[in-house]
Order: sequence, then structure tokens, then C-alpha cells
Amino acid sequence: MTFSYHNPTALQFGEGQIQSITNLIDKDQKVLVVYGGGSIKKNGVYDQVVKALENHTWIEFSGVEVNPTIETMDKAVKVVKEEKIDFVLAVGGGSVIDGCKYLVAASLYDGDGWDFLDGSKEVEKALPLGVILTLPATGSESNNLTVLSRKSTDEKRMYFSDFSYPKFAVLDPSFMSTLNDRQLGNGLVDAFVHTSEQYLTYPIPALVNDGYAETLFRGLVTLANTWEDRRTLVWQENLMHIANQALNFQIGAGVPQDWSTHLVGHELTAFYNLDHARSLAVVQPHLLRIMMDDKKEKIAKMGENVFGIKNDNEAVIVAIETLYNKVGVPTKLSAYEIDDKVISNVTNALEAKGYTALGENANITLDKVTTILTMSMK
Ligand code: NZQ
Ligand code: ZN
Repeated sequence: MTFSYHNPTALQFGEGQIQSITNLIDKDQKVLVVYGGGSIKKNGVYDQVVKALENHTWIEFSGVEVNPTIETMDKAVKVVKEEKIDFVLAVGGGSVIDGCKYLVAASLYDGDGWDFLDGSKEVEKALPLGVILTLPATGSESNNLTVLSRKSTDEKRMYFSDFSYPKFAVLDPSFMSTLNDRQLGNGLVDAFVHTSEQYLTYPIPALVNDGYAETLFRGLVTLANTWEDRRTLVWQENLMHIANQALNFQIGAGVPQDWSTHLVGHELTAFYNLDHARSLAVVQPHLLRIMMDDKKEKIAKMGENVFGIKNDNEAVIVAIETLYNKVGVPTKLSAYEIDDKVISNVTNALEAKGYTALGENANITLDKVTTILTMSMK
């Protein structure tokens, strides 16, 4: 095992923590508050931001869409430059946060910000970013990953940069009370798949990584099994905590990872607008079946330590499907209105990005992706 791990984001967890931003943002910094379609105006979060920033100078930018686009975020870049903004405060879910991670970097870059997404340029500097999380799912609030789309080309891409780490993230579970069942189910599934992508590979004796990943899995199983309690603060704060821990990349430090479910899922979202978590749930179970030979030891370990299933890897995959279905998330592409171009759309887009050999062993080729999607459509 060899790794470097440094996560500089301060987590401010719990009810009332939004007050802490008053001191976490310097009073002499001009702040841009960025949010999405307005959910924060309906649930009182916006009012709490206004209160916390009453002694700061700030303006706002709204309208960041689900699966944020560079087209929208470049409008925010213009605002940052014109208004001489010093600090960006993202208020929302993964979409607003990712949009702002791009914003803080692109605002200090002279070229086309898509350069970060297509990998032709690395981020070299960024404005400071703070986050107020309203939807737990992606872990974006304290990681260095940015996922952004370009509408004009139907592309969804991502990049890693240590300049993307927020300075702080406020995680107040009471902000979740206005999430609907679909959003809660999506969050649970996204966290489960994040943990899986860092665990369901081949075995290495990484006791800390495996042990903690299994704790997160068992937590998510407990939440799914107590789905009827999903409106309670205790249920919601546990989802918020688990989703955060599932993708700060700590459980992935020093161990093999397989992000193929995400890479295929991102294409399904780019072409067919599936919610992020829903795009994963229609890929992962079928991928696990196709890649059983490579992943059999870890699927068996998950079976024993998470689901209490021994010597039956197919039953483990069925248990995962049952879990997703229980929280209202379908595991078949046939549940959605998808045209017959889906396979060529996805495989051509992967090929164009050079993603032709995915997975921890670089053997999930495009013909396997074709088989996986075909199984999902049956
Ligand atoms: O825009 P508003 O009005 O705020 O409404 C949002 C949006 O419609 C709403 N919402 C958020 N908080 C709410 C609320 N509604 C009621 N009450 C609240 N408290 O929820 C809707 C979905 O929000 P979004 O931010 O899109 O969801 P999510 O957090 O799932 O983010 C998805 C995006 O993150 C990317 C995905 O690809 C997708 O673009 N990901 C980012 C990752 C990262 N940076 O680490 C990793 C993930 O794997 C993922 O790829
Ligand atoms: Zn995800």
C-alpha cells in the first residue's frame, strides 16, 4: 500500500452549524452565493444564509441546473470577474457544488475552462470555496472531484484537482427535511455505489479500507431496512454522514478501484438525462455478473460481512438489487424510455474519451459494456 491522503475540508456537522460560516469567511472578502433552481428558498436555507452573512458583502448567482453545464457556469465566471468576487459559497447538492468547483478554477483561468474537463490543462489556482450541503449523495462537499456537462456536445466529463477541495462544508441534516423519497433513495444508492467502486475489486489485505467500507455498507443496509423512518432526523443525519464518508476517497486510499459503473452511468445521464444514482443502479448489478471472475472474492466477502450470505455470489447481487428497489430505484434500463441507439451512443462516447478498457484490471472492454447494457434492457 502506498498513498498520500490530505483532505483539507473542515466538516461542520449538525443542526445550527450554518452560523459558523460567519467566522469561516473573512469579512473583507466579497462573496458570491451560488444555488440551483430555488429549493433553498422553499426550505428556509436561503434565509439562514442571509442571516449568517449579514455582516458580509455578497451577491448571488442562481439557476445551476441538475447535472451542471459549462454553459451556465461560464455565465457565473463572468459575474465573478466583473464583480471582483473573492469567495464562492455553494448552497445545494452535488450539482451546485461541482458547478462551483469549476467556477473557482475557471474564474482564474484565461483559456476555455473545458480544458480542465478534457484533460488538456490542470488547474493551477482557484478562488476559495465554501459549501452548504442540502442533499447528501455525491460526497462532492469534501472531495477533489468535479463532474460537469457540456450541453452543446452532450458530454459529461470529470476532473480531479486538489484546488477543488472546499475550505469548509456545512452538513446540517435538518436541511434534508424537504427532500422527497426519490432524492433520498438516489442519495442512498449513490453512496452504496461509491463504496462499491472502492471495494468490489480484487482482494488485498487492506484491513482498514475493507473494514470501514463494510461499516458504510452495513449502515446503508440498515437505512434501507428502516426506510419507513426516512423522515426522522436520526435516519437523515446518518445518510448525510455515510454519503460524505463514502466519497472522500479515504476508503480508496492505497487500494484498487473500479469506476466503470460511474463512467457508463455518466453517459446514460448525458444522453438520456437519467438521475445520476439511477444511471448507476441500471449498470452495476449487471456489470458485477459479467465481471464475476475478477470480483468473486470481494463479492463473497461483501456477502458474508454485509448481507450475511455465504457461498452464493448471485444471491449477493440479488441482495444489492433488492436494496436499490426497496428505496425506489430501478435496476433495469427497461424501466426508462430509452431508444435503440443506447448501446452505440454509450460505447461511441466512451471510445471517444479513450475509455475502452475500464475496471481495476482494465478488461471491461466495449463489448462487455454492450453485454451489460443488453442485460439491463431485457
Ligand atoms: O436546484 P435545486 O432547486 O436546489 O433542487 C435540487 C435539484 O433539483 C434538489 N434539492 C437539493 N437539495 C434539496 C433539494 N430539494 C429539496 N430539498 C433540498 N434540501 O435536488 C435536485 C438534485 O440535486 P443535485 O445537486 O443534482 O443532486 P446530487 O447531489 O445527486 O448531484 C448530482 C450531480 O453530482 C455529480 C453527478 O454526476 C451529478 O452531476 N457527481 C459528483 C460527484 C463528485 N463531485 O464527487 C460524484 C458523483 O458520483 C456524481 O458523479
Ligand atoms: Zn456517484
